Amino acid sequence: MILYLIGFMGSGKSTTGTRLASKLGWEFIDLDTEIENKTGLTISQIFSEKGEEFFRSLETELLHELGNRKDLVISCGGGTPCFNNNMDYMNSRGHTIYLKLQARALTDRLIKSSANRPLIKGLSEKELQEYIEAALHNREPYYNMSKSIIKGLSLDLSQLIDHLKSEGLYNPL
Ligand code: S3P
Repeated sequence: MILYLIGFMGSGKSTTGTRLASKLGWEFIDLDTEIENKTGLTISQIFSEKGEEFFRSLETELLHELGNRKDLVISCGGGTPCFNNNMDYMNSRGHTIYLKLQARALTDRLIKSSANRPLIKGLSEKELQEYIEAALHNREPYYNMSKSIIKGLSLDLSQLIDHLKSEGLYNPL
């Protein structure tokens, strides 16, 4: 089984993914980190030197490379579900989980860590809030295709694991 964590930037996909994989005893892969390791470039460098379209093709290529793996938690980038039919692909290979947060909560989180995120770098708090509201509006139709939708704010890991058990996605011996 592959579990895909999806959601907006700042929704806690990487942190939750690391903790979840360690609890399940599964492997964890962060798509952005994997892309950085593979290319030897940071996400910001890829965006500025090669462009977003190139980044999106790397994302999709990597998703497909990982599609036959077992016992794996993947944390996606915030835009992964919204390009190249990735949402359909992920739903066909495993179980997608949307970590859902409101725009205000995302702004509070992202204001502290916008510098290394090319899409929101240099925005004021007001611009950031507006960007997030508009982008969430465009992206939620994709995010909402997830098989599970989980409250991302103060997420309870044991509740998430109980949910996975009840869905038959995780059966500890
Ligand atoms: C992006 C989100 C980032 C990263 C890239 C583009 C997006 O990932 O993939 O900067 O389009 O929302 P995180 O959601 O892990 O920050």
